[in-house]
Amino acid sequence: MKGIILAGGLGTRLHPLTRITNKHLLPVYDKPMIFYPIEMLAKAGVDDIMVITGGSNSGDFLRLLGNGKQFGLKHLHYGYQEGEGGIADALKLCEDFVGDDKMIVALGDNIIERNIKQAAQEFKAQKKGAKIILKEVDNPGEYGIAEVTGTKITRIIEKPKNPKSNMAVIGIYFYPNDVFNIIKTLKPSGRGELEITDVNNAYLKRGLLTYNVLDGWWQDAGESKDALLETNVFVKEHGANKE
Ligand code: G1P
Repeated sequence: MKGIILAGGLGTRLHPLTRITNKHLLPVYDKPMIFYPIEMLAKAGVDDIMVITGGSNSGDFLRLLGNGKQFGLKHLHYGYQEGEGGIADALKLCEDFVGDDKMIVALGDNIIERNIKQAAQEFKAQKKGAKIILKEVDNPGEYGIAEVTGTKITRIIEKPKNPKSNMAVIGIYFYPNDVFNIIKTLKPSGRGELEITDVNNAYLKRGLLTYNVLDGWWQDAGESKDALLETNVFVKEHGANKE
Protein backbone atom coordinates (compact mmCIF):
# COMPACT_ATOMS: atom_id res chain seq x y z
CA MET A 1 0.00 0.00 0.00
CA LYS A 2 1.27 3.46 -0.91
CA GLY A 3 0.82 6.58 1.23
CA ILE A 4 0.09 10.05 -0.12
CA ILE A 5 0.11 13.26 1.88
CA LEU A 6 -1.37 16.35 0.30
CA ALA A 7 0.31 19.43 1.69
CA GLY A 8 -0.19 22.15 -0.91
CA GLY A 9 -2.67 25.02 -0.91
CA LEU A 10 -2.41 28.64 0.08
CA GLY A 11 -3.76 28.27 3.63
CA THR A 12 -5.70 31.51 3.22
CA ARG A 13 -7.94 30.69 6.19
CA LEU A 14 -4.84 31.00 8.40
CA HIS A 15 -3.52 34.33 7.09
CA PRO A 16 -1.29 36.01 8.17
CA LEU A 17 0.26 32.86 9.71
CA THR A 18 0.61 31.33 6.26
CA ARG A 19 1.68 34.44 4.35
CA ILE A 20 5.34 33.41 4.30
CA THR A 21 5.18 29.70 4.95
CA ASN A 22 3.14 26.61 4.10
CA LYS A 23 0.38 25.72 6.59
CA HIS A 24 1.74 22.18 7.01
CA LEU A 25 5.04 23.52 8.35
CA LEU A 26 3.37 25.42 11.21
CA PRO A 27 3.81 23.98 14.71
CA VAL A 28 1.29 21.67 16.30
CA TYR A 29 2.45 21.49 19.92
CA ASP A 30 6.02 20.18 19.66
CA LYS A 31 6.31 19.24 15.97
CA PRO A 32 5.62 20.66 12.50
CA MET A 33 2.07 19.76 11.37
CA ILE A 34 3.24 17.49 8.52
CA PHE A 35 4.96 15.11 10.99
CA TYR A 36 1.57 13.87 12.25
CA PRO A 37 0.15 12.41 9.01
CA ILE A 38 3.55 10.87 8.20
CA GLU A 39 3.65 9.18 11.61
CA MET A 40 0.04 8.08 11.22
CA LEU A 41 0.79 6.34 7.91
CA ALA A 42 4.03 4.84 9.22
CA LYS A 43 2.13 3.38 12.19
CA ALA A 44 -0.42 1.87 9.81
CA GLY A 45 2.46 0.02 8.14
CA VAL A 46 2.90 2.29 5.11
CA ASP A 47 6.59 2.95 4.44
CA ASP A 48 6.50 4.28 0.87
CA ILE A 49 5.08 7.80 0.90
CA MET A 50 4.73 10.70 -1.53
CA VAL A 51 4.26 14.24 -0.26
CA ILE A 52 2.68 16.76 -2.63
CA THR A 53 3.47 20.40 -1.90
CA GLY A 54 3.10 23.61 -3.85
CA GLY A 55 3.74 27.33 -3.64
CA SER A 56 7.07 28.91 -2.77
CA ASN A 57 7.99 26.88 0.33
CA SER A 58 8.26 23.44 -1.20
CA GLY A 59 12.04 23.30 -0.70
CA ASP A 60 11.50 23.58 3.04
CA PHE A 61 9.75 20.17 3.05
CA LEU A 62 12.88 18.54 1.67
CA ARG A 63 15.04 20.22 4.29
CA LEU A 64 12.64 19.20 7.07
CA LEU A 65 11.77 15.64 6.06
CA GLY A 66 14.85 14.55 4.08
CA ASN A 67 14.58 10.96 2.87
CA GLY A 68 12.09 9.96 5.57
CA LYS A 69 14.53 7.84 7.62
CA GLN A 70 13.61 9.69 10.82
CA PHE A 71 10.11 8.21 10.45
CA GLY A 72 11.34 4.71 9.57
CA LEU A 73 10.21 5.07 5.94
CA LYS A 74 11.75 3.11 3.08
CA HIS A 75 11.07 5.85 0.54
CA LEU A 76 9.87 9.41 0.66
CA HIS A 77 8.95 10.98 -2.68
CA TYR A 78 8.02 14.55 -3.45
CA GLY A 79 5.67 16.09 -5.98
CA TYR A 80 4.88 19.69 -6.84
CA GLN A 81 1.35 20.94 -7.54
CA GLU A 82 1.26 23.93 -9.87
CA GLY A 83 -1.67 26.26 -9.22
CA GLU A 84 -4.49 25.66 -6.76
CA GLY A 85 -6.60 23.02 -8.47
CA GLY A 86 -7.76 21.30 -5.30
CA ILE A 87 -7.26 17.99 -3.53
CA ALA A 88 -8.24 15.70 -6.42
CA ASP A 89 -6.03 17.71 -8.79
CA ALA A 90 -3.05 17.21 -6.44
CA LEU A 91 -3.77 13.49 -6.24
CA LYS A 92 -3.44 13.21 -10.03
CA LEU A 93 0.31 13.76 -9.66
CA CYS A 94 0.65 10.41 -7.85
CA GLU A 95 -0.54 8.11 -10.65
CA ASP A 96 2.91 6.82 -11.64
CA PHE A 97 4.00 6.56 -8.01
CA VAL A 98 1.00 4.37 -7.11
CA GLY A 99 1.22 2.11 -10.18
CA ASP A 100 -0.83 -1.07 -9.60
CA ASP A 101 -0.99 -0.57 -5.85
CA LYS A 102 -3.72 0.73 -3.53
CA MET A 103 -3.27 3.93 -1.55
CA ILE A 104 -4.12 5.84 1.60
CA VAL A 105 -4.45 9.57 0.94
CA ALA A 106 -4.12 11.90 3.93
CA LEU A 107 -4.62 15.64 3.98
CA GLY A 108 -1.55 17.10 5.62
CA ASP A 109 -3.53 19.10 8.18
CA ASN A 110 -5.73 16.28 9.47
CA ILE A 111 -4.58 15.01 12.86
CA ILE A 112 -6.08 12.13 14.82
CA GLU A 113 -5.79 10.96 18.41
CA ARG A 114 -5.62 7.27 17.67
CA ASN A 115 -4.85 5.31 14.50
CA ILE A 116 -6.24 3.92 11.24
CA LYS A 117 -4.91 0.37 11.59
CA GLN A 118 -8.35 -1.28 11.58
CA ALA A 119 -9.56 0.68 8.54
CA ALA A 120 -6.30 -0.01 6.69
CA GLN A 121 -6.59 -3.76 7.34
CA GLU A 122 -10.20 -3.83 6.19
CA PHE A 123 -9.34 -1.85 3.06
CA LYS A 124 -6.50 -4.24 2.21
CA ALA A 125 -9.03 -7.06 2.22
CA GLN A 126 -11.65 -5.03 0.28
CA LYS A 127 -11.79 -6.35 -3.30
CA LYS A 128 -13.14 -3.24 -5.04
CA GLY A 129 -13.85 0.41 -4.45
CA ALA A 130 -12.89 2.97 -1.83
CA LYS A 131 -13.21 3.55 1.91
CA ILE A 132 -13.72 6.80 3.81
CA ILE A 133 -13.75 7.62 7.52
CA LEU A 134 -16.54 9.55 9.22
CA LYS A 135 -16.52 11.53 12.45
CA GLU A 136 -19.32 13.41 14.19
CA VAL A 137 -18.72 17.20 14.31
CA ASP A 138 -20.39 20.30 15.76
CA ASN A 139 -19.77 22.48 12.68
CA PRO A 140 -20.87 20.42 9.65
CA GLY A 141 -20.91 23.47 7.34
CA GLU A 142 -17.09 23.36 7.20
CA TYR A 143 -16.59 19.85 5.82
CA GLY A 144 -17.67 17.20 3.37
CA ILE A 145 -20.77 15.76 5.07
CA ALA A 146 -22.15 12.25 4.65
CA GLU A 147 -25.89 11.70 4.94
CA VAL A 148 -26.42 8.24 6.38
CA THR A 149 -29.67 6.25 6.41
CA GLY A 150 -29.42 3.16 8.57
CA THR A 151 -25.88 2.03 7.88
CA LYS A 152 -25.81 3.33 4.29
CA ILE A 153 -24.36 6.59 3.05
CA THR A 154 -26.92 8.12 0.70
CA ARG A 155 -24.94 11.15 -0.45
CA ILE A 156 -21.98 13.34 0.41
CA ILE A 157 -22.20 17.10 0.18
CA GLU A 158 -19.22 19.43 0.30
CA LYS A 159 -19.67 22.15 2.94
CA PRO A 160 -23.51 22.04 2.96
CA LYS A 161 -25.34 25.31 3.64
CA ASN A 162 -28.16 23.44 5.42
CA PRO A 163 -26.50 20.30 6.75
CA LYS A 164 -28.82 17.31 7.21
CA SER A 165 -26.19 15.31 9.10
CA ASN A 166 -23.21 16.01 11.32
CA MET A 167 -21.02 13.15 10.06
CA ALA A 168 -17.94 14.73 8.49
CA VAL A 169 -15.84 12.89 5.92
CA ILE A 170 -12.38 13.29 7.39
CA GLY A 171 -9.31 13.87 5.24
CA ILE A 172 -8.05 10.28 5.24
CA TYR A 173 -9.18 8.31 2.18
CA PHE A 174 -8.53 4.78 0.93
CA TYR A 175 -8.53 4.32 -2.85
CA PRO A 176 -7.75 1.67 -5.45
CA ASN A 177 -5.75 2.86 -8.44
CA ASP A 178 -8.87 3.35 -10.61
CA VAL A 179 -9.27 6.63 -8.67
CA PHE A 180 -7.09 8.21 -11.36
CA ASN A 181 -9.67 7.36 -14.04
CA ILE A 182 -12.39 8.93 -11.90
CA ILE A 183 -10.36 12.13 -11.43
CA LYS A 184 -10.02 12.46 -15.22
CA THR A 185 -13.83 12.72 -15.47
CA LEU A 186 -14.21 15.50 -12.85
CA LYS A 187 -15.17 19.11 -13.58
CA PRO A 188 -14.07 22.00 -11.32
CA SER A 189 -16.54 22.96 -8.59
CA GLY A 190 -17.89 26.43 -7.76
CA ARG A 191 -14.63 27.17 -5.92
CA GLY A 192 -12.68 26.24 -9.07
CA GLU A 193 -11.27 22.99 -7.61
CA LEU A 194 -11.45 19.29 -8.40
CA GLU A 195 -13.26 18.12 -5.28
CA ILE A 196 -12.40 14.95 -3.38
CA THR A 197 -16.10 14.80 -2.45
CA ASP A 198 -16.91 14.28 -6.17
CA VAL A 199 -14.45 11.37 -6.22
CA ASN A 200 -16.14 9.81 -3.17
CA ASN A 201 -19.59 10.35 -4.68
CA ALA A 202 -18.45 8.57 -7.87
CA TYR A 203 -17.61 5.45 -5.79
CA LEU A 204 -20.87 5.85 -3.85
CA LYS A 205 -22.90 5.89 -7.11
CA ARG A 206 -21.29 2.60 -8.14
CA GLY A 207 -22.06 1.06 -4.74
CA LEU A 208 -18.33 0.82 -4.08
CA LEU A 209 -17.82 3.04 -1.04
CA THR A 210 -17.36 1.61 2.47
CA TYR A 211 -16.83 3.63 5.62
CA ASN A 212 -15.60 3.37 9.19
CA VAL A 213 -16.37 5.73 12.05
CA LEU A 214 -13.26 7.19 13.67
CA ASP A 215 -12.43 6.37 17.26
CA GLY A 216 -10.93 9.26 19.29
CA TRP A 217 -10.64 12.93 18.39
CA TRP A 218 -9.95 14.34 14.94
CA GLN A 219 -9.05 17.85 13.88
CA ASP A 220 -8.66 19.58 10.55
CA ALA A 221 -5.98 21.86 11.98
CA GLY A 222 -6.08 24.11 8.91
CA GLU A 223 -9.79 24.77 9.08
CA SER A 224 -9.41 28.00 11.11
CA LYS A 225 -7.06 29.70 13.53
CA ASP A 226 -9.19 28.42 16.41
CA ALA A 227 -8.98 24.87 15.06
CA LEU A 228 -5.20 25.21 14.88
CA LEU A 229 -5.05 26.43 18.48
CA GLU A 230 -7.41 23.66 19.66
CA THR A 231 -5.32 21.04 17.88
CA ASN A 232 -2.20 22.30 19.66
CA VAL A 233 -3.95 22.00 23.03
CA PHE A 234 -5.48 18.58 22.23
CA VAL A 235 -2.13 17.16 21.15
CA LYS A 236 -0.42 18.51 24.26
CA GLU A 237 -3.10 17.17 26.60
CA HIS A 238 -4.10 13.90 24.95
CA GLY A 239 -1.35 13.05 22.45
CA ALA A 240 -1.83 12.00 18.80
CA ASN A 241 -1.36 8.82 16.69
CA LYS A 242 -1.77 6.61 19.77
CA GLU A 243 -2.24 2.85 19.78
C1 G1P B 1 -11.42 19.14 2.65
C2 G1P B 1 -12.50 18.35 1.93
C3 G1P B 1 -13.66 18.06 2.87
C4 G1P B 1 -13.16 17.36 4.12
C5 G1P B 1 -12.06 18.19 4.78
C6 G1P B 1 -11.44 17.41 5.93
O1 G1P B 1 -11.90 20.42 2.90
O2 G1P B 1 -12.90 19.08 0.79
O3 G1P B 1 -14.59 17.23 2.20
O4 G1P B 1 -14.23 17.14 5.03
O5 G1P B 1 -11.03 18.51 3.85
O6 G1P B 1 -10.41 18.09 6.53
P1 G1P B 1 -10.91 21.71 2.82
O7 G1P B 1 -10.13 21.69 4.10
O8 G1P B 1 -10.04 21.53 1.63
O9 G1P B 1 -11.80 22.88 2.70
